[in-house]
Amino acid sequence: MDKKKVILDCDPGHDDAFAIMLAVQHLDVLGITTIGGNSPLANVTRNALVVLEMIDAADKIGVYPGHSCPMVVPLVTAPNFHGESGLDGPVVEEPVHKAQKKHAVDFIVDTVMSTDDVTLIATGPLTNIASAINREPRIVERVKEICIMGGSVTFGNWTSASEFNIFVDPEAAARVFESGVHVKMTGLNLTRQCGFTPETVKRFRFIGTKTAAFAADLTDFFIGSNLRENEPALACMHDACAVAWEIEPSLIKAAPMHIDIELNGKYTRGMTVCDYRHLRGVNPAVDLERDAQMAFRGEEPNAEAALELDYNAYLELVCSTLANYQ
Ligand code: RIB
Ligand code: CA
Repeated sequence: MDKKKVILDCDPGHDDAFAIMLAVQHLDVLGITTIGGNSPLANVTRNALVVLEMIDAADKIGVYPGHSCPMVVPLVTAPNFHGESGLDGPVVEEPVHKAQKKHAVDFIVDTVMSTDDVTLIATGPLTNIASAINREPRIVERVKEICIMGGSVTFGNWTSASEFNIFVDPEAAARVFESGVHVKMTGLNLTRQCGFTPETVKRFRFIGTKTAAFAADLTDFFIGSNLRENEPALACMHDACAVAWEIEPSLIKAAPMHIDIELNGKYTRGMTVCDYRHLRGVNPAVDLERDAQMAFRGEEPNAEAALELDYNAYLELVCSTLANYQ
């Protein structure tokens, strides 16, 4: 069966690096676009090239730099988690490949307008995606779907209410969720189920490939970052979950729901406000109804939110992917 055609918009980023490694092996990656987020644009673009060279894919997949800052507010980065380079930990050579001259937004629009059934996967702030929709609204009905790592059905990480990718550019996120495009949201409520541990690091090292050693170094560093940030000693490779959902949909259980992006709350700006009153098991009154959908008169769902991950199958996918690289 032909591989799913995707564009991966990302801000590498340790977990974006895992997303790239999974996507390149299992999907037809038409191009990688980069966005300022975990680190400034120049760093994340260099890091995307580093990862592609690590997996010997830099000759066939182009990297297209996008926006360096969000639509309205200044850029917030996350060196506390990803280091000054955005990919601290592994010792790597500077990439010999160069980024493409074409802007990410132009690449996204031109590719979607000329190619059927393209899926957009976004694992950073949504500025490039929103800008592409503003530039050419027809991409909304042309893209197959947009699968993002971002938001949360429960609570945040950058603030108690908001997840980093949405927090960095809430206006862009609001544009995407309101555009009418089919959004699949892989939020923190899901990605926190995928924590890699020091045992996982040992398992990666045992695989014996240079790419697996690279993945082990990334994971080791990320566990250290979480410890320094008083988070659990786990490396949740958040972005890889969004790609895994596109590779093997059975890995994730999801539910339709209406999701709004809070733009004005003093404590909640950047929150993904998820309306799941219709879901069984969260509203006893609904559970009593014959058909949960009939019990609730909320707004029509505009997204699908990931709720449950098959962690063991996900870990096997990651390990087998690493073993298939050099
Ligand atoms: O909140 C997690 C997200 O923010 C991930 O995409 C990570 O790479 C950072 O961008
Ligand atoms: Ca990311």
